[in-house]
Amino acid sequence: MRILLAPMEGVVDPYMRELLTRIGGYDGCVTEFLRVTRGRVPRRNILRICPEISTGGRTASGIPVTVQLLGGDAEAMALNAGIIAGMGAPGIDLNFGCPSKQVNANDGGAILLKKPERIYAIVAAVRQAVPDTTPVSAKIRLGVDDTALALENAHAVEDGGADFITVHARTRADGYRAPARWEWLAAVNEALSIPVTANGDIRSVEEYWRCREMSGCEDVMIGRAAVGRPDLALQIRYAQQQRQAKALHWQEVRDLMLQLGEQMAEGMESRHVATRLKQWLTYLKQEYREAVDCFEQLRRLRTFEEMVAAIRP
Ligand SMILES: Cc1cc2nc3c(=O)[nH]c(=O)nc-3n(C[C@H](O)[C@H](O)[C@H](O)COP(=O)(O)O)c2cc1C
Repeated sequence: MRILLAPMEGVVDPYMRELLTRIGGYDGCVTEFLRVTRGRVPRRNILRICPEISTGGRTASGIPVTVQLLGGDAEAMALNAGIIAGMGAPGIDLNFGCPSKQVNANDGGAILLKKPERIYAIVAAVRQAVPDTTPVSAKIRLGVDDTALALENAHAVEDGGADFITVHARTRADGYRAPARWEWLAAVNEALSIPVTANGDIRSVEEYWRCREMSGCEDVMIGRAAVGRPDLALQIRYAQQQRQAKALHWQEVRDLMLQLGEQMAEGMESRHVATRLKQWLTYLKQEYREAVDCFEQLRRLRTFEEMVAAIRP
């Protein structure tokens, strides 16, 4: 019954992981993808993507952070997976879902789903390169243009020796459009013996239960709604225990936003902090009516200081 925080490039960074795991409900997180081409990825790039490696591979609240690798070169993926596991990452995840044209043109992400044998080769090489005690997982979509190879790819992940698989229940062609195809999660879950983590369009406690029921998957991963509703995992965790958590009020979320800004401002230029907070507000707008007004109030402001002054005059 694990609840995982999804990798989201440019959105769920170490600051956001820290904040969301502090609110609670999550059993694990996955970093934004780390691009692997040829040879070793510089150590500083690894630590930038996953600074938690220096604190035992966990967020300050003690939640493990798996490092996600993206690339099509099995040898380079294995080399870097071995290095990163050696640095203390609590898990290695392989990205076979990224739909970006640029990434796909460079032999990475979802495009690899056209060749299940390559998925197998990459997973097997990575599995061999990291200690048995380090979990290896892969995150796939259902295919590139259609679902024809969905089961074959899922089998390739299992046969390559992955400990579990996360399935984002869409093809690349589906983009991020709702509804996610949960019926496919059931098909993959039935076909494989390793655990399948369900991903795609889990946005509420009700949808969590429906997805579990429809897919038969025990574990889930939450992406956009985790950012839009910072207490969603906690709500689900309480619901699993037949309890009800008090929902976060907008004022509390707004304070969290300012806290996040303050933390980011220690390592980032103020205008970049402002951009990131506006980005967060676009997710919050889906869940909190007040976030719509807040976004309007802040959209033209350029720096974090201006934002603070506007929110706390
Ligand atoms: C802005 C953005 C960035 C993402 N970055 C990654 C990534 O780095 N690695 C990855 O495997 N998936 C990435 N994803 C996909 C999510 O992890 C997730 O599979 C997808 O959003 C579906 O889940 P959701 O409906 O709960 O959002 C990203 C999605 C978004 C919207």
